[in-house]
Amino acid sequence: MTFPIHRYRRLRQSEGILRMVRETTLSIDDLIEPFFVCEGSGIRQKISSMPGVCRLSIENLVSEVKESYSLGIPAVILFGIPSKKDELGSEAYKQDGIIQRAILEIKNAIPEIIVITDVCIDEYTNHGHCGVVEDGKILNDATLELLSKMALTHAESGADIIAPSDMMDGRVQKIRATLDETGHQDKIIMSYAAKFASAFYGPFREAADSSPQFGDRCSYQMDPANTNESIKEVIQDIEEGADIVMVKPALSYLDIISKVRSEVNVPVAAYNVSGEYSMVKAASQNGWVDGERVMMEVLISIKRAGANMILTYFSREAAKLLNR
Ligand code: PBG
Repeated sequence: MTFPIHRYRRLRQSEGILRMVRETTLSIDDLIEPFFVCEGSGIRQKISSMPGVCRLSIENLVSEVKESYSLGIPAVILFGIPSKKDELGSEAYKQDGIIQRAILEIKNAIPEIIVITDVCIDEYTNHGHCGVVEDGKILNDATLELLSKMALTHAESGADIIAPSDMMDGRVQKIRATLDETGHQDKIIMSYAAKFASAFYGPFREAADSSPQFGDRCSYQMDPANTNESIKEVIQDIEEGADIVMVKPALSYLDIISKVRSEVNVPVAAYNVSGEYSMVKAASQNGWVDGERVMMEVLISIKRAGANMILTYFSREAAKLLNR
């Protein structure tokens, strides 16, 4: 019996005390803001399932990224929406593809911002799968060739961090080797190492128009029921050369983030994905929850679980609050 000697409420008496004993903090440095970039000019097209998020043509993207950087956000991640899609996603690895041009323009305007690129062909293929399709199957090794070509064009355009999100086996090794052979040994790889086959990607697929046209992603993304497998995936990606590993989604996988954090000693990123964002926005628009407070609680929970950085569509709103 420790009461009345120990009264935990002593340390909750005032904002000053709360600040002193707070165990987890969220900083603007933790935030990575995702952007959707499309062809054309003057485009700022709202995504209905993601209030506040737009598809932007390159010049609008650059001005948005400038604003994010001025708020203190250190990094952005780019997703491309090409004007044409084909069987092999050839727009993904064209020297003058949408992402390649976007990187150049961003780096021209704001050289200090860290540009991360998503490496995966699903936004560029007409079937919407993350790999080469043959007889209804997604081929692993044939896909590696395309991914490494894509990664190389991103590196050549000036991307700082390459983030493969396809979940093919051996992609980190292949991309690392390709980058090293071409003089890009300093480019960082942030691998979507534990990426689950999640329904929380729904709004993203509307935004990027990347829903699979047949079947699902369960033959390459992970089963949400598996923990040990996620640790194997993470460790293997580190062995293959990943500098940073990611867990995705974040909220329903806080246990995975925590486990990964304790098993490895590289930085861990977590992706607070589109569906997690949309749920908060929808409930908040209905007046069912206090959107701002829920947002901050969500982000701190991801930090508390052990993430060192968070990819989140809330980046800008959170940065504004943190700057206050
Ligand atoms: C694949 C990719 C996806 C997301 C990030 N990279 C979609 C998918 O795997 O279907 C989802 C991100 C989100 O939902 O916010 N290019």
